[in-house]
Amino acid sequence: MRWSLGITWAAAALGIGLKMYPSHRTSLTQPPASRAQAADSKVYRDAETGFTFTEYAAEYDIGSSIMFRIALPEPVNVTNYDVVLQVVAPKDVGWAGLAWGGSMLDCPLTVSWANGQTLIISSRYAPQHAMPPTYSGASYTILKTGTHVNSTHWQFTAKCTGCAYFSTGGSTKTQLSPTGVNRLAWAAATGGVKPSNPSSNTSTLNVHDVYNYWSHDFSQAGNSNFGSLVSKDAGK
Ligand code: HEM
Repeated sequence: MRWSLGITWAAAALGIGLKMYPSHRTSLTQPPASRAQAADSKVYRDAETGFTFTEYAAEYDIGSSIMFRIALPEPVNVTNYDVVLQVVAPKDVGWAGLAWGGSMLDCPLTVSWANGQTLIISSRYAPQHAMPPTYSGASYTILKTGTHVNSTHWQFTAKCTGCAYFSTGGSTKTQLSPTGVNRLAWAAATGGVKPSNPSSNTSTLNVHDVYNYWSHDFSQAGNSNFGSLVSKDAGK
């Protein structure tokens, strides 16, 4: 099913409720400027790990979404802070990527996939729209609690150092606001197509067949027990 943007916006102007789904091999353009600061995420309390996240459902096909969940420490060091990321994906997602700078280019990319019962996290950075090389500026600690594969989904939970504060080429630094809404981007390879060497986090990646952008509210993702939850969930 494909809706054109023209039809959607015309329907919105007429007050007609019309839902638009991203479809394979297409992408949506950015939302109108007036909506740019409205958060697309909502609060999610995860009983398994104990974290309060804000989550966004990235709909990659009709009725199928990848959940991107982000948790922050509270109080937070506004210039540089760790985050906990949880990604939950249906099994037909070959790999899922989060671009922390809101576009593919010049920001940490968190790419993940399942290899059997094992979750692989691969840190990448793309200076151009081509296969992104690995990136040492972000590091991940997998939390055993909150990381698993079942018959329908795979998911991981990990602490990231270097996702929320990073260089954007040269000496320019970008810092995501811990008290506001940040524009992020995602991409995915669907149809179950995994990277060519799925046991290695340095594998060549196949190109995504869908991507999009969203506004994620970091201000409601604070956890006063962030450090103790990380320790507990890492140890299992
Ligand atoms: C083999 C790996 C990859 C290749 C060859 C590739 C290539 C490309 C190309 C050619 C475009 C431009 C498409 C257009 O203009 O319509 C694009 C856009 C994009 N890619 Fe990738 N990509 C790869 C991996 C990734 C990964 C791992 C992410 C992680 C999130 C990602 C996120 C995006 C996003 C968000 C866009 C939209 C344009 C932008 O915001 O920069 N890509 N990619």
